[in-house]
Amino acid sequence: MQKSACIIGMGRYLPERILTNADLEKMVDTSDEWIYTRTGMKARRIAAEDEFPSTMGAKAAINALEEAQIGADEVDLIICATLTPDYIFPSTACLIQEQIGAKNASAFDFQAACTGFVYALSIAKAFVESGVHKNVLLVATEKLSSIIDYTDRTTCVLFGDGAAAAVISSEKSPGVNLKINRVFQGADGALADRLILPGGGSRVPPSIESVERGDHFLKMEGKEVFKHAVRKMKDVSVQAVEENGFELADISYLVSHQANVRIINAVAERCQIPKEKVKMTIEKYGNTSASSIGLCLCDMQEKSELKDGDHLLLCAFGAGLTWGATVLSVEGEDNG
Ligand code: COA
Repeated sequence: MQKSACIIGMGRYLPERILTNADLEKMVDTSDEWIYTRTGMKARRIAAEDEFPSTMGAKAAINALEEAQIGADEVDLIICATLTPDYIFPSTACLIQEQIGAKNASAFDFQAACTGFVYALSIAKAFVESGVHKNVLLVATEKLSSIIDYTDRTTCVLFGDGAAAAVISSEKSPGVNLKINRVFQGADGALADRLILPGGGSRVPPSIESVERGDHFLKMEGKEVFKHAVRKMKDVSVQAVEENGFELADISYLVSHQANVRIINAVAERCQIPKEKVKMTIEKYGNTSASSIGLCLCDMQEKSELKDGDHLLLCAFGAGLTWGATVLSVEGEDNG
């Protein structure tokens, strides 16, 4: 019988430095009041100069492997979701493989921006449930501070750094397991320019002119992205719940990508999910792109909020544009 893929361990890493709204007030023309009411953010973490997506990701990965009680040499595949890789190549996944000593693992990066964690779950599930791999390590890791223009108040208040990792396996762990139900996802490349890093790739290679234009900084049409985020996250969330055989009332928690408290609340409202079921880490970490859902899950785990029989609705939206959702069903040790 085909075994279901489960998350059997999770881990995270957050840099020490905290950038508060009060700090940003000293850098650009903004206010704590504007940032908090428009985004829900109070603080975000910023990686040190010698911290990179690979080093943060490796630390998160080690924590996830410890929790899953498996050795690094038992990992068959490392998938890294990041839009801020250490290098264009080699992949950040390969750097993590070396740093954690996962000598039997293959490794690759992929790019679905803020939808990275949800897309990665579908990739890991496919590898595990097809029997190709037993243990897949998902690492979502971002150093967004490296692509932010800290003189642009419309973007610099929004983003933070951090990493989250999950071990996905066909063998359950003695602890809490999160069964990955069907993952639903979509994309619309017609809206690619709404959220983009224009420079540094082969279309706009780095040059004095590209740097002078600021092409190496993230650009976003915030209002436009906001509108699509609410619509697409609501639609794909309802689809993930219903087509996995659940009802919205069965959902114990909404664990959404953390881009804006108003987006999250609008999605929850449209899905008729009450406020007390909506998980938020946005106030303390800001938008950490691919890492944000994993950081939210780690927060819940730390607070012992993952209970046998719970169903968590995960949904995300990001550059591409991309979106996705799934339901994770919590299975404790008594569920075998
Ligand atoms: N501080 C103070 N004022 C600011 C500001 C800041 N940090 N950033 C923008 N403003 C100003 C604007 O200049 C504008 O002023 P104007 O009316 O004089 O032109 C005003 O505030 C309103 O700006 P607007 O862009 O309309 O605000 P908004 O309510 O749309 O909020 C975002 C902006 C970016 C917070 C919001 O659009 C958003 O969250 N978008 C989606 C983000 C997202 O999901 N990104 C990633 C996808 S994963």
